[in-house]
Amino acid sequence: MDKKVLQKLSYGVYVVSAMDGDRPTGCVVNTVMQITSSPATVAVSVHHDNYTHDCIVKNGRFAVSILSQDSDPAVIAAFGFRSGRDTDKFTMVKRTDFGGMPVIADAVGHLTCRVIGKLETDTHTVFLGEVEDAGMASAAQPMTYAYYHEVVKGKSPKNAPTYQEETPPKQDKPVYVCSVCGHVYDGDIPFEELPEDWVCPVCKQPKSVFQKR
Ligand SMILES: Cc1cc2nc3c(=O)[nH]c(=O)nc-3n(C[C@H](O)[C@H](O)[C@H](O)COP(=O)(O)O)c2cc1C
Repeated sequence: MDKKVLQKLSYGVYVVSAMDGDRPTGCVVNTVMQITSSPATVAVSVHHDNYTHDCIVKNGRFAVSILSQDSDPAVIAAFGFRSGRDTDKFTMVKRTDFGGMPVIADAVGHLTCRVIGKLETDTHTVFLGEVEDAGMASAAQPMTYAYYHEVVKGKSPKNAPTYQEETPPKQDKPVYVCSVCGHVYDGDIPFEELPEDWVCPVCKQPKSVFQKR
């Protein structure tokens, strides 16, 4: 089986959010898709280990923020590489509320959904959500998953359904790989000479989390 062909499937980049009691939380997903138009219904696949998963199960509701090519990279760094278990992600970005559901303020638009069904796999739950409210916020270009990889040079962590382990290309000099998001440093300045306050361009974690391979 050539799993590389799975990388030819197309997706967008979203934040799926939910309430955790009084506190809003959420995570980046690429797996939102529309299932039917009447009543408007979407599906999203969320890893069992993601804190957002438990919050959606508890509340029976979720919101989707459609990220744009202009979305603040801090959104993906916070929502895609940290957990709501120990991080208040919505204090790091601007938020708007719709019907009591938190949404990323600089998104292209939002959906708020009521869970009407669930499908379990070994690792992920596919939530089916009937759309309760939907709105456009900007005319910016939605970010595709291909744009995230090719232009932003972003990576996907292990909990993303599309994760595939990458082997850094063989070369003579050492390669520095971010242990949080998998970004392989490829700048002109030798890694050792980067200033101590330098951070990973994808997940914004410090230089110290990079491992020499
Ligand atoms: C580009 C990208 C796409 C992702 N897609 C998904 C996804 O579709 N489903 C999922 O469960 N996790 C996905 N993730 C991983 C979660 O966003 C990540 O594990 C997050 O830290 C979970 O946060 P939480 O514990 O607060 O829920 C993705 C991450 C990135 C960066």
